[in-house]
Amino acid sequence: MSVTIKTPEEIEKMRVAGRLAADVLHMIREHVQPGVTTDELDRICHDYIVNEQKAIPAPLNYRGFPKSICTSVNHQVCHGIPSDKVLKNGDVVNIDITVIKDGFHGDTSKMFPVGTVNTAAERISRVAKECMLIGIDMVKPGVQLGDIGFAIQRHAEKQHCSIVREYCGHGIGREFHEDPQVLHYGQPGTGYTLQEGMCFTIEPMVNIGKRQVKLLPDGWTVVTKDHSLSAQWEHTILVTADGYEILTIRPGDEP
Ligand code: MF3
Ligand code: CO
Ligand code: CO
Repeated sequence: MSVTIKTPEEIEKMRVAGRLAADVLHMIREHVQPGVTTDELDRICHDYIVNEQKAIPAPLNYRGFPKSICTSVNHQVCHGIPSDKVLKNGDVVNIDITVIKDGFHGDTSKMFPVGTVNTAAERISRVAKECMLIGIDMVKPGVQLGDIGFAIQRHAEKQHCSIVREYCGHGIGREFHEDPQVLHYGQPGTGYTLQEGMCFTIEPMVNIGKRQVKLLPDGWTVVTKDHSLSAQWEHTILVTADGYEILTIRPGDEP
């Protein structure tokens, strides 16, 4: 499909969907504790989205995905399927929330430490967040996606971390995944040129070891080939006349 430019009415709906997705991440934080299963986190988020927000959890049945959220623990890169796996002290988990409200999608994820985590886990979470924020802060009309990918990759590699190449950010709106693809690596002066009214995600996956990944036999869970730690953060962004608006900002977490 091609890139969609949102009308003012559509932008208002994207703001609502983005706020709801952010609210789910805010709500779930107190439940991310040693001893909880990722299935329990999935159930709490599902019930909140459906019963409180009157919204739809977009992952559920998306291309056959069996749950309402993604939970990716430690060396899992993305698309982890909630299960009876118990989170233990020292784990780090990415929770990725996508909701549909009034026909529009909001998509956001963050890392959560489980109890007390070691410095490597803290470091990879911090570097991935910095990569996302560096990319977001470049967003304005006229900037090319290759400029953003280059800056994200440069930051990760300066920190001796690596960027996953097989998965990327994406346009978002009535569809979960729209054009353009938003790569988290690249060359300046290349790629799609941003225009006012576009909405897309920036969601770098950053590994503390090598960048190579593999897909588990469940057909969804992506893990690092070398079993090194991986981290990811994601926001949904609107391109405004002179910059950007983050549609998935959480209460009290403005960057
Ligand atoms: N939320 C993910 C993203 O950021 C996509 C998850 S697809 C699913 O694009 F099927 F695994 F839910
Ligand atoms: Co996304
Ligand atoms: Co997501």
